[in-house]
Amino acid sequence: MDTVESLRDELLGAVSAADGLDALDQVRITALGKKGRITEQMKGLGKLDPEARREAGQMLNALKDEVAAALDSRKSDLARGALDAKLASETLDVTLPSRHEARGRIHPITQTIDELTAIFTEMGFTVADGPNIESDYYNFEALNFPPDHPARQEHDTFYMAPNADGERKVLRTHTSPVQVRHMEKNTPPIRIIIPGRTYRSDHDATHSPMFHQVEGLVIDKKTHMGHLKGCLTDFCRAFFKVDDLPLRFRPSYFPFTEPSAEVDIGCSRKGGGLTIGAGDDWLEILGSGMVHPNVLRHAGIDPTEYQGFAFGMGIERIAMLKYGIPDLRPFYDTDVRWMRHYGFVPIAQPTVAGGL
Ligand code: DAH
Repeated sequence: MDTVESLRDELLGAVSAADGLDALDQVRITALGKKGRITEQMKGLGKLDPEARREAGQMLNALKDEVAAALDSRKSDLARGALDAKLASETLDVTLPSRHEARGRIHPITQTIDELTAIFTEMGFTVADGPNIESDYYNFEALNFPPDHPARQEHDTFYMAPNADGERKVLRTHTSPVQVRHMEKNTPPIRIIIPGRTYRSDHDATHSPMFHQVEGLVIDKKTHMGHLKGCLTDFCRAFFKVDDLPLRFRPSYFPFTEPSAEVDIGCSRKGGGLTIGAGDDWLEILGSGMVHPNVLRHAGIDPTEYQGFAFGMGIERIAMLKYGIPDLRPFYDTDVRWMRHYGFVPIAQPTVAGGL
């Protein structure tokens, strides 16, 4: 009996002394394993006489159950302790900001296109596009530039090598050819803007061989100069965020519009800086006019039934004016310092209601 008692004390002591799951498993093997202390004792029962065997057997079975229960309970204590320690060491500071500031920036050209698109779509325009490599027909002829017209020279056109038929395609010099392409495939009413890349062989502080324009075209049954003025006035005031921005419509000439007008916005150059808004100076920002009947005819639209207006402006130019960017060349330098300074945070999507 003494041995069972002392074995009990020894094993239960070892169970509570085990300070980890591995150590506890060693105790289990020592007590209950194939060659464990209790197992060995049980093997010895056969040598006892029946009376003593029954009594010792009961005691050993009770000891076995008690030790197994102690092992179980110590095991769950140790597991809970290990979890608590893990939770305590792996702390998470929920007061930290949930994300770092976005590192990328939206390029001012993209931002400006998004802004003007937001304004024009609000007015009911949709966005159209066309190819950058154009035929002479769409870039010039369909737009009423006769073959030897001097305005062709003003465009500093990039010509491609002649193809098998001897035709020389051009890099489009303006977004206006998309007017014709769109009118060929759609019936009025038409209200589109066409933001895109354009190309001219010209390179200095204010000209880049690749630049961006946005074209606008409205065709309907009773469209007149008043609509042109109202549309462009609303656009300029929303874009430059000056409610009473003065606009001046100055007679001009483009082969594809008649009459034609260049649009100037009011500004002030007092004190060396440039401020857009009421002032004593003007700044030219776009070309416009009523679509020439020849252009409508080329596109398959009857000019006795439909008229419309068109306009075109340089995106770099309006971006520079709005955001005070002094030089054109860094627009294409992919200089990360310039982008950090003049770029826009991606999360700030421009909308008319939410701000531009
Ligand atoms: N295409 C002209 C240019 O590149 C800009 C322009 C002027 C477009 C008048 C138009 C317009 O649609 O009506 O200089």
